[in-house]
Amino acid sequence: MDHLNIITIDGPAGAGKSTVSRELARRLGFRYLDTGAMYRGVAWAARRKGLDIRDKKALSELCNDLRLGFSGDRILVNGQDVSSFIRTPEMDRLSSEVSNVDVVRQYLTEIQRELGREGYLVAEGRDMGTVVFPQAAHKFFLTASAEERAQRRKMQTEYQGKEITHEEILAQIEARDLADSTRSIAPLQAALDCIVIDSSDLTVEDVLEKILSEI
Ligand code: DC
Repeated sequence: MDHLNIITIDGPAGAGKSTVSRELARRLGFRYLDTGAMYRGVAWAARRKGLDIRDKKALSELCNDLRLGFSGDRILVNGQDVSSFIRTPEMDRLSSEVSNVDVVRQYLTEIQRELGREGYLVAEGRDMGTVVFPQAAHKFFLTASAEERAQRRKMQTEYQGKEITHEEILAQIEARDLADSTRSIAPLQAALDCIVIDSSDLTVEDVLEKILSEI
């Protein structure tokens, strides 16, 4: 598979991956692939059906029947736009849980590689540089301190009109980082050949400049 025109951006929750990846894709004229939204889409569908996340067989059947797609920046599950339902604390947690199930990862990895076949893609997630596109031309790992990531998430949630304390967000972020980085399959980790960017003290523009200067 030709991964020459693929740029991967992995990293923990709240590191600014989405903002940076979307803008990078826009500037380069590449497509943008939000793989977190795909795990969230599966989590939403499982929740909708009332499935037990530990029930592998049910999740496997769910994936077999699922039609997952994008329409611009919107994520569609069986034709329904679920974009506004997948960004809740419950879906944060459930998407992290379903992402630890091998049948779900196999199903999504296959779709992601298919979407990457034509290249010219900025792929964002946890395992883009390590598992899905190991031969990508440029790999980045975007991170920031848990404190800073919690602060940014708090600003986002306030913007959405939701009430949550800094401590609650920090605890959620740390729990999800731990689950994502210690799971047995495709854990969150920096690829050996990636460039790590700590954005704790950087603006979005600073991060973009760093990435663009590397590529
Ligand atoms: O990036 P995000 O917060 O929208 O991702 C939601 C969850 O999906 C995250 O906690 C872990 C999982 N995920 C994953 O395991 N692999 C990816 N490539 C992307 C997301």
